[in-house]
Amino acid sequence: MVEKNNVFNLRNDFPTLKRKVNGKDLVYFDNGATSQKPSSVIKRINEFYQNENSNIHRGVHTLSQDATSAYEDARNKIQKYINARMEEEIIFTKGTTDSINLVANGFSREILNKGDEILISAMEHHSNIVPWQLACEYSGAKLKVCSVSDEGELDMEEFKTLLSDKTKLVAITHVSNTLGTINPVKEIVDFSHKLNIPVLFDGAQSVPHMKLDVQDLNCDFYAFGAHKMFGPTGIGVLYGKKKWLEKLPPYQGGGDMIKTVTFEKTIYNDIPHKFEAGTPNIVGGIGLGAAVDYLNKLDWESIHEYEKQLLDYATTQLSQIEGVRIIGNAKHKVGVLSFVHQKAHHYDIGTILDQLGVAIRTGHHCTEPLMRRFNVSGTARASFAFYNTTEEVDVFISALKRALKMIL
Ligand code: ALA
Repeated sequence: MVEKNNVFNLRNDFPTLKRKVNGKDLVYFDNGATSQKPSSVIKRINEFYQNENSNIHRGVHTLSQDATSAYEDARNKIQKYINARMEEEIIFTKGTTDSINLVANGFSREILNKGDEILISAMEHHSNIVPWQLACEYSGAKLKVCSVSDEGELDMEEFKTLLSDKTKLVAITHVSNTLGTINPVKEIVDFSHKLNIPVLFDGAQSVPHMKLDVQDLNCDFYAFGAHKMFGPTGIGVLYGKKKWLEKLPPYQGGGDMIKTVTFEKTIYNDIPHKFEAGTPNIVGGIGLGAAVDYLNKLDWESIHEYEKQLLDYATTQLSQIEGVRIIGNAKHKVGVLSFVHQKAHHYDIGTILDQLGVAIRTGHHCTEPLMRRFNVSGTARASFAFYNTTEEVDVFISALKRALKMIL
């Protein structure tokens, strides 16, 4: 059983955190790119390949039936975890990007017409921009973009003015991967729904930091991946309200997504299978189920409080370094700290920090339009998870000071 609010105990669950990098204890501050995995997830993946490996939904034999149960159990765990109304509303995908592409593809074929509009924001990851550009290309629809303030917050006044009867979908990130901003998701849904506009949230960066209740949120689609929420790579989820999933056409054709096939006509399977063509990432789904089991044991209220303290501490320390500018100062933030230095390039900072055992991300973070908005070519980004500590922040700050001395 995971101890409540005891980070040092939690750290013991993550074997990678114990390793050394370049002779130093690893400080892993690249959780926005991917999280580390607890032993229980690693063990479950190993167990599946050791004892249960088989294809699903196909075999009468015991192994296949066991694998099918394990995979479908994982779907059930995810349904409960995010409080979806039914299992059918949980589609397994390759990850957040795949989930968004599935919806964008369906909208371009079934919903969008010339002159229609999709509303996104200036803080979107490329994976919530490019699929909509493709959908606009196919359908003749237009992409509208809501501005972001200097603090890194959505301009909600502008958001409201951008919605109209032409808007066919609002697609916005719940949490910005670059700024850490937590967007006012309830307000977005309430306002959009008043105008009968459906809402999709990109949840890639929210799921490691908060527990989700999609019924309470009342969004129409919610896309997220497993690997940032302590599960394996290559697997993710599209949550969609049943009425929407039934309305959208299949994304890909193949096995499992059909009821009957003739050369003249194919009858598609019911949701969720309609969207799951081919042998899926079986072990990925089961591994995500194990990650959900792990997350269910956490005390989320304490985690929020702890992560907030960690971010406040790191922000204060970082702000005291001369020449540093923090990009993203929203009132509501998760533990993401993007910054630039007036004289040192972010890439040099990241490279030297790695030599000192500190892993951060540098570059545009797949948010090039946002970089342009803040007039920077890229940033250095430290992103935290609940297993990080203030002691690690101290190591990061002194490594950064050393790096700056070497560069300047
Ligand atoms: N989108 C991930 C990040 O922000 C990979 O680092």
